[in-house]
Amino acid sequence: MRQDPLSYLGDELESLKQQNLYRRLRVLDDEQKAHTSFDHTSVVNLSSNNYLGLTTHPRLRQKALEAVEAFGVGTGSVRTIAGTMAMHMELERKLAEFKKVEAVVVFQSGFTANAGTVSAILSKDDVVISDELNHASIIDGCRLSRAAIKVFPHKDAGAARKIIQGLPAGQRKLLITDGVFSMDGDLGPLPELCALAEETGCIMMVDDAHASGVFGKNGRGTIDHFDMHGRVDVQVGTLSKAIGALGGYVAGTKSLIEFLYHRARPFLFSTSHPPAVAAACIAAIDVLLEEPEIIDRLWENTRFFKSGLERLGFDTGASESPITPVIAGDSARAMKLSDRLFQEGVFAQGIAFPTVAKDKARVRTIVTATHTREDLQFALDAFGKVGTELGLV
Ligand SMILES: Cc1ncc(COP(=O)(O)O)c(C=O)c1O
Repeated sequence: MRQDPLSYLGDELESLKQQNLYRRLRVLDDEQKAHTSFDHTSVVNLSSNNYLGLTTHPRLRQKALEAVEAFGVGTGSVRTIAGTMAMHMELERKLAEFKKVEAVVVFQSGFTANAGTVSAILSKDDVVISDELNHASIIDGCRLSRAAIKVFPHKDAGAARKIIQGLPAGQRKLLITDGVFSMDGDLGPLPELCALAEETGCIMMVDDAHASGVFGKNGRGTIDHFDMHGRVDVQVGTLSKAIGALGGYVAGTKSLIEFLYHRARPFLFSTSHPPAVAAACIAAIDVLLEEPEIIDRLWENTRFFKSGLERLGFDTGASESPITPVIAGDSARAMKLSDRLFQEGVFAQGIAFPTVAKDKARVRTIVTATHTREDLQFALDAFGKVGTELGLV
């Protein structure tokens, strides 16, 4: 009988189990909402990126349903062959206006937007200067480009400067940061990095996945928050988190976007968004423009929850956004915290190495606009109880 050539994967899984890093997928039984059900358990949900509650917003739902009725469920082609519908073009036009740039290209996800863009605009003779905590999709894009990768310590623009000063003047350089860091919730130092990029001739790129719909006027992102319009050459946003649907986009000059139409491999070689997704994203931009009070509510909830965790005495890192880590130490403790919280009716996912440093395992909490005060107080009470039990507070 043939031996399973993949048997080594079983050994790898066993090793994950021994390190407390093996995770079973939790299954959502209901809609993605602030209070919902996972694994047949009713919980306050602090684990989604649905910052504004748009996954279930009636305007998005209605537009998605109408798009299915009018255009069916799929596009049947990549954008560059037969898969571009008028609504894809409308979405890109609307996003460009929203982000105050010349043009936008939409990708199937934020991941493909980052990876497809970095790998398209750089080649093996170039160099990337990248924050050590940048998202995996940036790292993969850098690897695919075959450019040299120079990593600077988290948020350290001075260290980035030293790296750049040591590079040949004529070499093409990309300076890249997340706008909001997804595991710590802190912000990239955009003013310092933009000034550095201008001074040293670097291309400046910001991944604003967690800032889209959250920071800046009407949720325009960290570029708007820091008033850096016109100073970031490549802006990436996502449609999968606060926007509530699915997708990613790149915002910049017309020539950047036309180049990506011709060279970004996920754009060229993977089927375009179904009509319902494009229609929902268009409706989401209208919601950001016409119902900005949702964003105010997100921030009110964020302040309430963060100050509650701090009052309880938890280590919540240096977060500046609705993402608040609760640092537990090693992975076993973080997973125990997450599991006990779940038993108490609160879902906050445990995050461990290699996503975060070995001694900084945590549960990550994300507050949304649609949590009620009762939801958040319930969660704080559970954190207090379990934190005391585990000796974290
Ligand atoms: C910082 C950052 N960039 C990009 C992405 C990818 O976005 P998407 O989920 O739309 O692929 C994520 C999501 O995990 C993220 O946290």
